[in-house]
Amino acid sequence: MSDQLAALTTFTLTADIVIRPARYEDLPLLEWHGLFWHFRNVFRDTFLEYQQGHRLMIVAALNDFPVGRVFVQISTGNPVYADGFDRAYLYSLHVLPALQGNGIGTALINYAERELINRGYTWVTIAVAKDNPAARRLYERLGYVQYHEDSGIWSYIDPDGQGHTINEPCWVLKKRLGSG
Ligand SMILES: CC(C)(COP(=O)(O)OP(=O)(O)OC[C@H]1O[C@@H](n2cnc3c(N)ncnc32)[C@H](O)[C@@H]1OP(=O)(O)O)[C@@H](O)C(=O)NCCC(=O)NCCS
Repeated sequence: MSDQLAALTTFTLTADIVIRPARYEDLPLLEWHGLFWHFRNVFRDTFLEYQQGHRLMIVAALNDFPVGRVFVQISTGNPVYADGFDRAYLYSLHVLPALQGNGIGTALINYAERELINRGYTWVTIAVAKDNPAARRLYERLGYVQYHEDSGIWSYIDPDGQGHTINEPCWVLKKRLGSG
């Protein structure tokens, strides 16, 4: 018997991606089977703040599995990012690695922008790590322009109770909503 594997098989997958608000049942699935285990508390707290109207939590779902996410902060302690009435901040944008480059990130941003327009916002901001030029290119193509920089320091506590500080210097970009 040969130990050779069969020749490659290729077929085309057609699948609907639904962009929608996050649901409680999405929270464990957002951990992507361990990849984002460390953000369990972040996702839970974001969902609570979403329910209280302080944030938006948006997912891209494939067969009801959240394969992408973007969160929106309505107000922050720093008005450069969001001020609670005119300017809101998109963050935590991420698409499941195997599905990147298929338009899901763009669709998530478009959906978040439409939600903000419906709520009367004029400006949207987004931060991108200085070492992530590919994401920056995407945002610029969608109409975002750089106007600020930030040390990108924030912290979270993982499910084991361990504290982590992220130090990710970033550019802050903004876009006038409805401008393309
Ligand atoms: C950045 C990201 C959210 C974009 O979502 P996406 O669904 O891959 O993006 P789209 O298919 O809508 O658009 C593709 C564009 O995104 C940019 N991009 C950034 N990172 C990418 C990646 N890992 N794979 C593919 N495209 C990427 C490219 O500029 C690409 O444009 P191009 O075709 O001219 O190269 C996604 O790639 C991702 O999750 N990357 C890792 C996490 C990350 O960098 N998040 C952004 C933090 S600011």
